[in-house]
Amino acid sequence: MNASTRPTALVTGASGGIGMHLAECFARDGHDLVLVARSADALARLAADWGARYGVRIAAVAADLSREDGVDAVVAALRERGLAVDALVNNAGVGMYGAFSDTRLDDELAMMRLNMLALTALTKRLLPGLIARRGRILNVASTAAFQPGPYMAVYYATKAYVLSFSEALADELAADGVTVTALCPGPTHSGFQARAAIGRIGLLRVLPLFDAATVAAQGYRAMRRGRRVYVPGLANRLLAQSVRVTPRRLITAIVRRLNAPR
Ligand SMILES: NC(=O)c1ccc[n+]([C@@H]2O[C@H](COP(=O)([O-])OP(=O)(O)OC[C@H]3O[C@@H](n4cnc5c(N)ncnc54)[C@H](OP(=O)(O)O)[C@@H]3O)[C@@H](O)[C@H]2O)c1
Repeated sequence: MNASTRPTALVTGASGGIGMHLAECFARDGHDLVLVARSADALARLAADWGARYGVRIAAVAADLSREDGVDAVVAALRERGLAVDALVNNAGVGMYGAFSDTRLDDELAMMRLNMLALTALTKRLLPGLIARRGRILNVASTAAFQPGPYMAVYYATKAYVLSFSEALADELAADGVTVTALCPGPTHSGFQARAAIGRIGLLRVLPLFDAATVAAQGYRAMRRGRRVYVPGLANRLLAQSVRVTPRRLITAIVRRLNAPR
């Protein structure tokens, strides 16, 4: 088979939700894809569907990125297939709802490994190639990144890490011609809420619920433009800005009220 001349995008968490729609944006735009998630069947279906529809090559790599060897498995799969990556999308992430005194530590540590460690390790391992190809990195953070979040304390903290790391990296890599974008969605319709066991909290009534395709399309455009931080939606943008001038203790108390179980 001839080597493809198309650029290649690797998207984690591509089996559903925001990641699936982000991956489709790349395919539509003529990128070959490496799709990563745990659900091998869902990835295989998407690969077959988009391969036929968009005429691009798609590799499906089933890996659990909350495991210590998850990133190694992805890097090994790239090496086996002789694939170099032009755009890295660190999207895979999970949330977890509940008071910290009630949640399970093992679940929290797995979430931290997925949301922060895998994102960092994959970026580190693919960085030499991304610099050589003047590539792009898109990290999916959240509006949760801008302030502390009682009842989802660890999740909010993982997203603060993603945002801080992404902005610092964007600055470091600017001279290399690599762009880094932190996409910070507010509440978005996807499998996320159910997986995180988020019930009918006030936050979901106050903020508009976006659909995952819209968030992905806006995030993709922001990445193409080399934006460092992008928050979809005016209400989400205003909220993200408002925390800059509000005392942190007050904003934390407001988020507690919005996140409290009803
Ligand atoms: N939805 C929201 O309200 C919202 C708001 C702000 C930010 N975000 C962020 O957006 C990103 C995408 O979330 P989403 O809303 O699209 O949620 P989603 O529908 O639950 O999708 C999550 C994706 O991550 C994958 N994934 C989960 N655990 C994984 C693991 N251990 N290893 C590899 N892949 C894993 C899932 O696939 P498998 O189950 O097949 O592994 C799935 O493809 C996350 O980083 C989330 O924090 C979401």
